[in-house]
Amino acid sequence: MEKKNIDWGNLGFGYIQTDKRYVSDYKDGAWDNGRLTDDANVVISECAGVLQYAQTCFEGLKAYTTEDGRIVVFRPDLNADRMIDSAKRLEIPVFPKERFLDAVEQVVAANEAYVPPYGSGATLYLRPYMFGSSPVIGVKPAAEYQFRLFATPVGPYFKGGVKPITIRVSDLDRAAPHGTGHIKAGLNYAMSLYNIVDAHNQGYDENMYLDAATHTKVEETGGANFIFITKDNKVVTPKSDSILPSITRRSLMVVAKDYLGLEVEERVVELSELKDMAECGLCGTAAVISPVGKIVDHGTEICLPSGMSEMGPVTQKLYDTLTGIQMGRIPAPEGWIKVIK
Ligand code: PLP
Ligand code: COI
Repeated sequence: MEKKNIDWGNLGFGYIQTDKRYVSDYKDGAWDNGRLTDDANVVISECAGVLQYAQTCFEGLKAYTTEDGRIVVFRPDLNADRMIDSAKRLEIPVFPKERFLDAVEQVVAANEAYVPPYGSGATLYLRPYMFGSSPVIGVKPAAEYQFRLFATPVGPYFKGGVKPITIRVSDLDRAAPHGTGHIKAGLNYAMSLYNIVDAHNQGYDENMYLDAATHTKVEETGGANFIFITKDNKVVTPKSDSILPSITRRSLMVVAKDYLGLEVEERVVELSELKDMAECGLCGTAAVISPVGKIVDHGTEICLPSGMSEMGPVTQKLYDTLTGIQMGRIPAPEGWIKVIK
């Protein structure tokens, strides 16, 4: 298979149209059989549920070329499960798990020429999404839906790859208690756009969101969960019902405990504790692990001891082990790697 002529090493996190995507339509109470299509455009009613009331959810996962030349996907079953949770919360009909996994397989195989080569630093990002496609004008769920899944080759989410970033503590909230922060709804991202543009304008890479009720506890950023390393080498991650249950974070906690022998804690993390942390990272499919060098809390700078030039040592070990598992250099726990070919 000849690869596309793409400068893999210089890709950012952007959209490049690939050859095939998967589509399935929901009508009269049932999903159709689904198909691959060349058509990258979606044509829907001007009054579609997604356009009027944001009835949509999505997922994000990646395909990798391993050291021995296989193409694999990391834990797609967990993305399928999470999309089911998102769909239920938004009154979108569930797309069955085995159909989701089949769509992943079909899209990766059909776009093999776009799967970045091993060692290039790039990966093939997969974006499954679902939306209400039929007209609604009163506030209610649509009657018809579409499930789609496309692929796009990507490089690092943050410019500079794994250079530490600077984030600010946000005054605005991302998710309310008992709201939708725990699902991957488009609406959670629409409402974060004003705040991320403002953060960038003020010179920050990301926002650190706090719990909406008290503004004293750390939640997550707009697109990744947090991990912290304490000065006595524990890996700590915030526990909250209003953050997205990151698959990367859940995997890292297993890696920390079972591969690196570190103590791990999923617990409430107070904003006031951050000054005592040794390392901080953002973790997610897109972010992988992006080290945080500085957190600015309304003029007070919290400079992580790991500094602004490189990842802290524990974050680096987590990063190396996780990416080693994903790229086939390190044996994976049972069921983590789905081989496409
Ligand atoms: N938190 C938010 C808000 C996200 O959008 C994402 C990205 O998917 C994550 C966390 C990380 O989740 P995952 O590791 O499953 O990609
Ligand atoms: C992902 O990590 O897959 C996401 O969906 C996060 C998004 C901000 C790119």
